[in-house]
Amino acid sequence: MSAERLSVSFEVNGEPVVAEVSPLQRLSSVLRDRLGLTGTKVGCDAGDCGACSVELDGAVVCACLVPAAGLSGSRVRTVEGLSNGSLSALQESFLRHGAAQCGICTPGVLVSAAALLEKNPAPSEAEVQDALGGVLCRCTGYRKIIDAVMNANRSVASDAAMVEQGRAVGASPIRLDGERKVSGAEVFGADERPADALSVAVVRSPHWHADFEIGDTEAFIAAHPGIVAVFTAADVPGENRFGVIPPFADQPALAGGRARFRGEAVALIAGERAAIEALDMDAFPVSWKALPHALTPDEARRPDFPDLHEGRTGNQLTQGFVESGDPEAALAGAFVSVSGEIETSYVEHAYIEPEAGFAAMEGDTLVIKACTQAPYMDRDDTARVLGLPPEKVRIVPLAAGGGFGSKLDISLQPLVGLVTLKTGRPAAMVYTRGDSMRSTTKRHPAAMRASIGADAAGRVTGMVFEGDFNTGAYASWGPTVANRVPVHASGPYRTPNYRATGRAIHTNGPVSGAFRGFGVPQATIMQETLYDRLAEKLGRDRLAFRIDNALVDGDRTTCGQALSGVGIRDCLEALKPHWARAQAEADSANAGDGRLRRGIGVASCWYGCGNTALPNPSTIRVGVTVSGAVMLHQGAVDIGQGSNTVVTQICADASGLPLSAFQLVGGDTGVTPDAGKTSASRQTYVTGKAAEKAGRALREKILRFANVSDAAVIGLEDGALVIREGAVRRRVELAEIEAGSGGYVFCAEETYDPPTTALDEKGQGVPYAVYGYGAQLVELEVDTTLGTVRLLRIVAAHDVGRAINPLLVEGQIEGGIAQGIGLALMEEYVPGRTENLHDYLIPTIGDVPPIETILVEVPDPEGPFGAKGLGEHVLIPTAPAILNAIRHAVGVEVTKVPATPSRILAAIRAREAGQ
Ligand code: FES
Ligand code: FES
Repeated sequence: MSAERLSVSFEVNGEPVVAEVSPLQRLSSVLRDRLGLTGTKVGCDAGDCGACSVELDGAVVCACLVPAAGLSGSRVRTVEGLSNGSLSALQESFLRHGAAQCGICTPGVLVSAAALLEKNPAPSEAEVQDALGGVLCRCTGYRKIIDAVMNANRSVASDAAMVEQGRAVGASPIRLDGERKVSGAEVFGADERPADALSVAVVRSPHWHADFEIGDTEAFIAAHPGIVAVFTAADVPGENRFGVIPPFADQPALAGGRARFRGEAVALIAGERAAIEALDMDAFPVSWKALPHALTPDEARRPDFPDLHEGRTGNQLTQGFVESGDPEAALAGAFVSVSGEIETSYVEHAYIEPEAGFAAMEGDTLVIKACTQAPYMDRDDTARVLGLPPEKVRIVPLAAGGGFGSKLDISLQPLVGLVTLKTGRPAAMVYTRGDSMRSTTKRHPAAMRASIGADAAGRVTGMVFEGDFNTGAYASWGPTVANRVPVHASGPYRTPNYRATGRAIHTNGPVSGAFRGFGVPQATIMQETLYDRLAEKLGRDRLAFRIDNALVDGDRTTCGQALSGVGIRDCLEALKPHWARAQAEADSANAGDGRLRRGIGVASCWYGCGNTALPNPSTIRVGVTVSGAVMLHQGAVDIGQGSNTVVTQICADASGLPLSAFQLVGGDTGVTPDAGKTSASRQTYVTGKAAEKAGRALREKILRFANVSDAAVIGLEDGALVIREGAVRRRVELAEIEAGSGGYVFCAEETYDPPTTALDEKGQGVPYAVYGYGAQLVELEVDTTLGTVRLLRIVAAHDVGRAINPLLVEGQIEGGIAQGIGLALMEEYVPGRTENLHDYLIPTIGDVPPIETILVEVPDPEGPFGAKGLGEHVLIPTAPAILNAIRHAVGVEVTKVPATPSRILAAIRAREAGQ
């Protein structure tokens, strides 16, 4: 035992372990970094998220809080210890129930649940919630986790793994990447690191807006053994700006002389791992001169506040606009009209996996392995910053532990790439939770105003909407939000006279980017809360009012687009029996004068899948090898939503080949064609359509080779294709056919780009080829003395066109609702104050009520097998339905979201005071 190291002997998963540890080292680090047991995840390193949960001497603990020095004699069990050659009943139950989406929380959840089940084999829902209360999951909405734990010890006959050939679409097979997630074998961004990699630390601005000068870096390096190099903007070899929308690309990888937001990267320190881990960042030589800053659009538009970017006058990045008819005349002539204003807050994505990855050279190609939602966009942005041709950068996505939009923007990719290019050594980086929250994108805070009018028959006649979206210091997805909002702000309702304006305004706040819905959730809060007031003024039932105004086939949107396959009316109709029951229960609960008041609320959504009025192609390749494997080059990054499984199901049925024959080739830009980014609910529809086309093309090639008609059935047997048509049976020995490019005997590659058109100056055109629809009903209880809200039940009816995988659809709906609950009631990112998962609250397992999902399937003529997207849709109605239910319960409107207890209470007090 040296002075700095201690030797500890303990047991991990039944095996004796002796490890040399440092006095400050935690158990999580020993497990991951010394023993290679990377199933235990680190989401916060502070005891807030539970991702690192392990069993220590029979008790569940956060491994990130346990000092390794005290481990001697202890017994530790990790996720790797749950299976004994085969998966445990609990792990199998997780697969069957679809309880793991991205999978980053899954090890911690499983370990906690296993400990519960050992003591209590048949726990109640409350007992499960109690046992798992310390583990955060950002994807699932927890309901499937609860089901999986409660049913783990119930023997059930399951045919989930068996899918009949030709019937993959509509089935719910176990997700193809599921076993890795429940066994702890999935490799996320922080789970792989070359042994000789340098670690990289980022120097970030502590100021909202500041000029800075970097001091004597040579002296800094000399004074810190193990530090190898420092890099600044001056070292960036290419164009030092990136951005997801090339014409707006404006964000430097490393700021040069001026930082425009708190958390902006200004320098990199590369060194040996121990040196970086021991580094005092305050020792870095940089001097700051704080500048005046603006944190809100109103401040940023003041005449005396300078433009943050040349040419963006008044700090306006861009504006989106849609106009049809004469909205002023419609409002002036309306039988009733309502107006209102609402503000929303920054919302943090709070995926449990902070950004992580590494770079290394392979020959003359820079290879970056990291968590991402958009490998090809990462490649192109990184290549531009580093001055390399795109083909000399290869992005290999590691599993993403959640993304929800923020991992569409590059983060560490050019930073580790720069270090590797300059030093020739691999370079690895794992963001701390604070780095992740400070430096990555957020949901745009919005300040919105709207007026809506209706005629005496209760038909909406006109609407005017204006929204200012705080896009922060750089463009990111600001243009997308500004353009998407005006298209959607009417909601899925006929609105013959309409004007909507969305502005993206720069401030010195965090960069606002993509977050499930691109501004539509905020705009829907405005529209749907006004709809409740409009219905009330008209004396109409709130649900019936919506049904009467819902779009139907043949209607035109406010952009003039004629619609077909419209399912919003079906969704709203599906809620009717639940609405009647909930209304009766609320009436009865509110009969007395108790402090608890029951409320019910309803809201709708629609959402155009894919880019707004822009090209949006996906390409899929599928090939049959000489051994009879069907390789699907599937580049639609699966961030937990299930695209690996859904896209394969579509391709399987389109080709007629069995799902079980398919193997996935991931989103590696070196070997997989570009399937576009995982965003805007586009993968099931756009990449699914490409997979459908590729599957059909592959089938056509095989059938032509076998000289049979399209009625033939293709099977795979021992390295041969067996094709049957009536009495004809042809056996094609694959090994006897010369393989073509890529090593495939038969291969097809197809691209699909949705048929959209550009919008004219009034926003008229065809912005999206496919829309999805949904409506949600919320039942809740408000404590009128505390202002707290208890959610009782949510019923969600969503038109997904065709549920390619109903279990995954349910999982998306439940997960989206959980995020909608956070948006409505608790999530408010305050820079400088809530930069951790202790102060920034997201829904826990106790915050999500029972959810009943109703799948509505109105096929879309364009979508694969009729499917529409749903990833964004499912979050959109939740917050307005909650706000409407609060208003129903206590008669007050909360005009600043989230509706925290203090805001609800203030609104109740103001009403009581007659204000
Ligand atoms: S990593 Fe230990 S609780 Fe979050
Ligand atoms: S599955 Fe729980 S955080 Fe992703």
